[in-house]
Amino acid sequence: MYTQLEQRGMSEPPVNVSTLRQMKQDGEPIACLTAYDASYAALVDAAGTDVVLVGDSLGMVVQGHDTTVPVTVDNIVYHTQAVARGLRHAFLVADMPFMSYTNPTQALDNSVRLMQEGGAMMIKLESGGGQLEIVEHLAEHDIPVCAHLGLKPQSVHKLGGFKVQGREPDHAREMVESAKQLQDAGADIVLLECVPNEVGQAMEDALDVPIIGIGAGPHVDGQILVLYDVLDITQGKTPRFVRNFQQGHDSPLAALQAYVKAVKDSSYPAPEHCFS
Ligand code: KIV
Repeated sequence: MYTQLEQRGMSEPPVNVSTLRQMKQDGEPIACLTAYDASYAALVDAAGTDVVLVGDSLGMVVQGHDTTVPVTVDNIVYHTQAVARGLRHAFLVADMPFMSYTNPTQALDNSVRLMQEGGAMMIKLESGGGQLEIVEHLAEHDIPVCAHLGLKPQSVHKLGGFKVQGREPDHAREMVESAKQLQDAGADIVLLECVPNEVGQAMEDALDVPIIGIGAGPHVDGQILVLYDVLDITQGKTPRFVRNFQQGHDSPLAALQAYVKAVKDSSYPAPEHCFS
């Protein structure tokens, strides 16, 4: 079954959705990072990262835009192809960019592009109650889906900035309810961004699927950060949840290994990286 992997000299099969579910069940934290090209993808993979996301954050950290809004499906396909060539072990997720999933048919067409042309194994979309029909349609076609809740950067102009979400109890309850509905519609994992710790805990209590957090506190099943933040490449002010892992390490690989270790031993995120 794994003939092609033996040819690549792999000792272990790659991570897949079942591995992620098993890790949640076993209480093993899931270490995730973004990547945008083959060289960094190879380093992230060598460091032992479980999940690699080709995020539309590439619009900001690679292309230099102020938001993720200008990113196109062609951009994501191009970067996913490059990242796929660098990976041996990690599970590859690709972002559906702004306005690429406005209805079920468009969402399916673009997911197929990310998987067939790009090599993604799962697609991620910024979700809420409005995406239930879309997630259901993708799930019916066996497209693995990551539902992104909390701070949704593609909505930055509607939100009026990149802000912590779910501080008001009603909003927090609504978010947990949406997450449950998305899970029932077929979402395989949830990515939860920039919420107070209690919202992370409430999601964890409510959902069966693995939850990956970024600025969502320590109670979720895994953590993700933007690669350039971890390696201290990002200039200027970074969000509270970012930790510079390059500090104290003399190579990018050592920094990435330190990140994976800190996620696995739950020393990241520390209280100073969390919201209340
Ligand atoms: O685009 C991205 O990098 C993301 C982050 C939340 C990881 O979605």
